Amino acid sequence: MTPQPTSDTRSAPSFRFRHLLGIEGLSRDDITQILDVSDGYAQTNRQADKNVDHMVGRTVINLFFENSTRTRTSFELAAKRLGADVINMSVSTSSIKKGETLIDTAMTLNAMHPDVLVVRHQDSGSVHLLAEKVNCSVINAGDGSHEHPTQALLDALTIRRRLGRLEGLTVAICGDVAHSRVARSNIHLLSIMGARVRAVAPPTLIPPGLDRMGVEVHHDMRKGIADCDIVMMLRLQTERMQGSYVPSIREYFQIFGLDYDKLGAAKPDALIMHPGPMNRGIEIDTDVADDIDRSLIREQVEMGVAVRMACLDLLSGNQTEPWAKNQ
Ligand code: NCD
Repeated sequence: MTPQPTSDTRSAPSFRFRHLLGIEGLSRDDITQILDVSDGYAQTNRQADKNVDHMVGRTVINLFFENSTRTRTSFELAAKRLGADVINMSVSTSSIKKGETLIDTAMTLNAMHPDVLVVRHQDSGSVHLLAEKVNCSVINAGDGSHEHPTQALLDALTIRRRLGRLEGLTVAICGDVAHSRVARSNIHLLSIMGARVRAVAPPTLIPPGLDRMGVEVHHDMRKGIADCDIVMMLRLQTERMQGSYVPSIREYFQIFGLDYDKLGAAKPDALIMHPGPMNRGIEIDTDVADDIDRSLIREQVEMGVAVRMACLDLLSGNQTEPWAKNQ
C-alpha cells in the first residue's frame, strides 16, 4: 500500500473507463488503482493545505434527484479540493415524468459542457441511460437499489487501511439487503477482491439470486456474524418499501439490531461499519455505533472524500480519448 505523492501537481494516471457507473465489470486492478490513488488523497486531506490543482478549469455538476446530505457534500468537497468549479442541482421529483425529464435535464446540462456529472436517481438503471446521452464522464452516486460504487470503494479503502488487505476477510452485510445499492456494490467489490461475503437478514429483506452472486445467506444474526472480521450494518430503507417487510421495529431491533450481546458472536476484534444515515436503536445500538475501538463509521465518512477525489481525478481528462471505453 504505497501512498501516491500528495504535494505535486501531476494528474493521476488515466482510468480505462469513461464513466464510473458501478463496481460490476471492474477488475481487481481497476479497484486497486482507485484505492491506491485514494490513499494518497486521504493523506492530503489530513494536511493543513488540502488543495491540489488537478481539476482547475474543469466543471463538475452534482445532479441529485434524491435527497442526500453526506454523499453530495462529500462530492462537492472532493471536487473543490481538486480545484474544479462545482454546481449543485437538486431536482424535485414530485412534478416530473421521470424518463423524459431525466434525459431532458441531461441534454440541457450536456450543452453547457461539464466535465463530470455526478448523478443520484431513485430509479435503478437511470444513470446508465443518462451516461449514454452525454459527452462528459458520469459518476453514479446511487441509482435506486442498484449500485453506489463510491460507497463500496470508500468502505474498501477504510477496511484496507485498517486491516491492510481485503483478500481472505469475512464480511457480514446485515439488514435491509433487498433495498440496498450499498450492499450490491459491496458484494461485487468484496467478491472481486477475494473476500467472503455473507448477507444476514430476515427472508423478506434478502433479494432473490444472492447465492448466485457467491453470497452465503443467513437469517440468524449470531450465526451470520460468527467469526466475521467486519460487520456492516444497513439502514431499513422504509422509503423504498411498499407494505410491511418486518413485523415491528422493536422486534426487528431485538432480532437483527447490532448490540454488544450479538456482537459477541463475531471475532473479538471485529470492526463495525455503517454507510449512514444511521437509525440508532433500529439496526444498531447507539453504544456500539459510537465505540471508538470497534466502529469505523467516522472513518468511512473521512475516506469518502478521498475516494471521490480519486474518482473525479481519474475520470476527468478521459472524456475525449477515443480509446476510453464506455463502461
Ligand atoms: C446510502 C444510500 O444513499 O444508498 N447512504 C449514503 O450514500 N450515504 C445508504 C442509505 O441511504 O441507507
